[in-house]
Amino acid sequence: SASEEQSILEAYQWLAKLYHHLLYHTKDGKKGLEYLHQRGFTDETIERFQIGFSLPSKDFIVKFLEKKGYHRQLMVKAGFLITNDQTNYFDRFSGRIIFPIRNAIGKTVGFGGRSIGDQEPKYLNSPESELFQKSKLLYNFDNARSEIRKRNEVILLEGYADVLALHQAGVPNVVASLGTSFTDSQANIIRRYVETVVICFDGDKAGQNATYKTLKLLKKVGCHVKIAMLPNGYDPDQYIQEYGADDFHQTILEASASEMTFLISHLRNEYNLNQEGDRLRYVERIISEIALLDSSIERDHYLRELSDQFSLSFEALQQDLVTKLKNSE
Ligand code: CTP
Ligand code: MN
Ligand code: MN
Ligand code: MN
Ligand code: MN
Repeated sequence: SASEEQSILEAYQWLAKLYHHLLYHTKDGKKGLEYLHQRGFTDETIERFQIGFSLPSKDFIVKFLEKKGYHRQLMVKAGFLITNDQTNYFDRFSGRIIFPIRNAIGKTVGFGGRSIGDQEPKYLNSPESELFQKSKLLYNFDNARSEIRKRNEVILLEGYADVLALHQAGVPNVVASLGTSFTDSQANIIRRYVETVVICFDGDKAGQNATYKTLKLLKKVGCHVKIAMLPNGYDPDQYIQEYGADDFHQTILEASASEMTFLISHLRNEYNLNQEGDRLRYVERIISEIALLDSSIERDHYLRELSDQFSLSFEALQQDLVTKLKNSE
């Protein structure tokens, strides 16, 4: 019901405050704080993102919530508590670093909890509910919105830590999809505010595949897309940790690739270019992608690149393209 949802929303705001307080003012919290400092996050960043910590004690927040007058059953529904037997109640996030996830108007509607050891899973999120729908949220959107407008560009990342790291590196127009499955609704939220999106996902296979899918979704809603590619094995946060903010700006962001440059290199993985048949299929595939470009100058540019790279006649490629364009009319 509406009053239940209001109640849950209110509890989220209380808990976010409590978790943040516990990070700084308890002995157990110190472990979480040390972990965050070790990863290079400053107190200013931790404050800005209201990062918190949930005590290892399994029932600390049960008592806290009860004192505030919240019913256990409702708190189970909200996802803060877990129970197997309706008798014993536990804190879902106990012993974890807490990343509050806020909606577009700045209200916390979910938590991401990261283990500080090797405990699996690495991240535990609030369960899906009417209030918390991960597929319709972008992490840090409320914080970044004005900078996104001002710079007319948004940088799309995978994770919580990447957002913190870029923010700390002086790049405030960043949001995260919270995992790799970017959705239509997330694309629509972005498009309402900005046209240009720089995708900067993790430099691994999953990140590359997600980049391809995300690129397609963003094009569908009319975005102009650039791709900031990371070396294999790095995510934005790790890269900044190792090479610093300036290097990240110059080597990764400034060097963002165009959509076609990314596609040309990404689609290559699907074909064995040593075989003539595959090589031709690959060229065909790229021409189909080129046919989707709006500008004839761009189409010409990539067609020429393709003709040079594979020693194919430019005129033949052009003929092929013209046919594809006609068919798609
Ligand atoms: N994620 C999740 N649940 C998991 C793994 C990942 O919800 N079990 C989401 C989180 O939002 C995470 C994002 O997907 O931030 C990207 O995942 P990954 O690259 O694996 O984690 P990082 O963000 O790099 O986490 P960290 O740097 O803390 O290891
Ligand atoms: Mn504080
Ligand atoms: Mn990843
Ligand atoms: Mn990552
Ligand atoms: Mn990471």
